[in-house]
Amino acid sequence: MPDLDDPDDPGDDLEPDDDFDEDDEPRVRPIEYEGERLQKVMARAGLGSRRVSEDLIAEGRVKVNGEVAELGRRVDTANDRVEVDGALIGVAPGLVYYLLNKPTGVVTTADDPQGRPTVVDLVPAEPRVFPVGRLDFDTEGLLLLTNDGELTHRLTHPSFGVDKEYIAHVEGRPGRAAIRQLREGVELDDGITAPAQATQVAPGVVRLVIHEGRNRQVRRMCEAVGHPVQRLVRTRIGPLTDRKLKPRAWRELTTEEVRALERASSPGSTDPKGPAPSRADRRAGASSPADEASPPDGADR
Ligand code: URA
Repeated sequence: MPDLDDPDDPGDDLEPDDDFDEDDEPRVRPIEYEGERLQKVMARAGLGSRRVSEDLIAEGRVKVNGEVAELGRRVDTANDRVEVDGALIGVAPGLVYYLLNKPTGVVTTADDPQGRPTVVDLVPAEPRVFPVGRLDFDTEGLLLLTNDGELTHRLTHPSFGVDKEYIAHVEGRPGRAAIRQLREGVELDDGITAPAQATQVAPGVVRLVIHEGRNRQVRRMCEAVGHPVQRLVRTRIGPLTDRKLKPRAWRELTTEEVRALERASSPGSTDPKGPAPSRADRRAGASSPADEASPPDGADR
């Protein structure tokens, strides 16, 4: 059916397969399924209106399955890979992205054999989502959960890994030598760590930015330089921060944030943090990556 309410819909939706809208897509696709118009899929994924999406296609900035797309291109959202300016875009309907402020005492798994509370218990049960990466039982702070397997893969893969910021409350007051060691790399039993950003932001409080995702890495790094962690809070995942999110609370990512994550985790990205949120996002409560040192709510207790 044509989308009569959409001024960007040029009326070409009279063609039969444009009946495949997110709300009424049949469970079994006919054999001759040709997909949805690319600009419609892009608009639904938050790239802008259909007209803006058409402009992106016309400018040659959109690829489908690695080839530059032409106007009129149709895509099968379940199988085709859509990239805009080199960043892979989640186009399948029904993808959800939650940002959770994980409290301590909760395991980062979808199902705990010991029956402990899990992070998945703290977000809506449907659609089923999975944590992206992991925070220890005793670690607090920002955790992403999604059903977007492709983005999860890229965010957790060491070769694309976006950087993550932690505030570590440690025993004692690390001196210059300890901070330098954290910056240059610490010898751990699974090898030396990559250079990290490390700053003592208050006596005994260290802000660390790392992009590796080794098991208990921050705790082991701090311990190795003689300052075991007493409390650990993750305050940023790539471009995502949120000072207002209360412990145990979650919210959906804005489309702008999803796009920023996709850009930050794309091969060849030089800015693992991604761009700052738009003014509209900031008005809506998302904090700027420039507020790096700002922990989520409850992190400075
Ligand atoms: N590093 C740790 O030591 N623990 C976490 O939960 C995350 C990073």
